[in-house]
Amino acid sequence: MIDIHTHILPGIDDGAADWNDTLNMARAAVAEGITTLIATPHHANGRYNNAAVEVLEYTHHINEKLIEEGVPITIHSGQEIRWHHDWLESWFRKELLPLANSSYVLLELPSTRIPTEIYELLHELNILKLKVIIAHPERNAEIMKHPERLAELIERGAFAQVTTHSLLGGFGRRIEKMAWFLCKSGLIHIVSSDAHDMERRGFRLREAYEVIGERMGKQWENYFLNNSACVLDDSPFGSKPVEAEASSWGVLHRLGSYFRN
Ligand SMILES: [Fe+2]
Repeated sequence: MIDIHTHILPGIDDGAADWNDTLNMARAAVAEGITTLIATPHHANGRYNNAAVEVLEYTHHINEKLIEEGVPITIHSGQEIRWHHDWLESWFRKELLPLANSSYVLLELPSTRIPTEIYELLHELNILKLKVIIAHPERNAEIMKHPERLAELIERGAFAQVTTHSLLGGFGRRIEKMAWFLCKSGLIHIVSSDAHDMERRGFRLREAYEVIGERMGKQWENYFLNNSACVLDDSPFGSKPVEAEASSWGVLHRLGSYFRN
């Protein structure tokens, strides 16, 4: 398995606190059957700034340490980049990193809203042939109220990543319901852990895929598994299992109002 959103680099955000934590997380990932991780420390979120050069350096060191310690996993570089006014300029200044040197970037929205400027940014990034993956939309307050707004972002070329802990109830019942609703509406392309530590927010990737297989069918499990591999290969995501295409808009319109009540 491949996990494209993790906070495994030591001491640079609210993820792994030190190298010991980093190695413990890596070992836990291997025990679950994860072969490849993308390290995505927070960047430009108002609390943490981890510019590209620093992340690349840490990623190089972590892979050296993993080889030394005999932990069979590969870590690629990335960032979880908060939307900010300076986004494009930061990209051109080479402060931002795509995921694993691909054309996919992981974008975090503010937790309460969808900035109106995001549509312009999506347009510019489309021109640059960059593909935006929106991190955990199931936890964004505006999307929780208006899930059809995520569909609008996807119509404009964005993709979306759901977090394993959301699907498994780790953030409460409301977020759990929203996570499944978005998945079943065909609005999610990637499943990933957003792992921060081994105590409260570990990986749970295998568990999440198993539940997806049970609730949505094997073809969806395979769809999500394959899309994570597409990020590493820098190839387009696969086609959604057929029934989602037909039902997603209908489901949204039927059930969207439910979440607003
Ligand atoms: Fe994250």
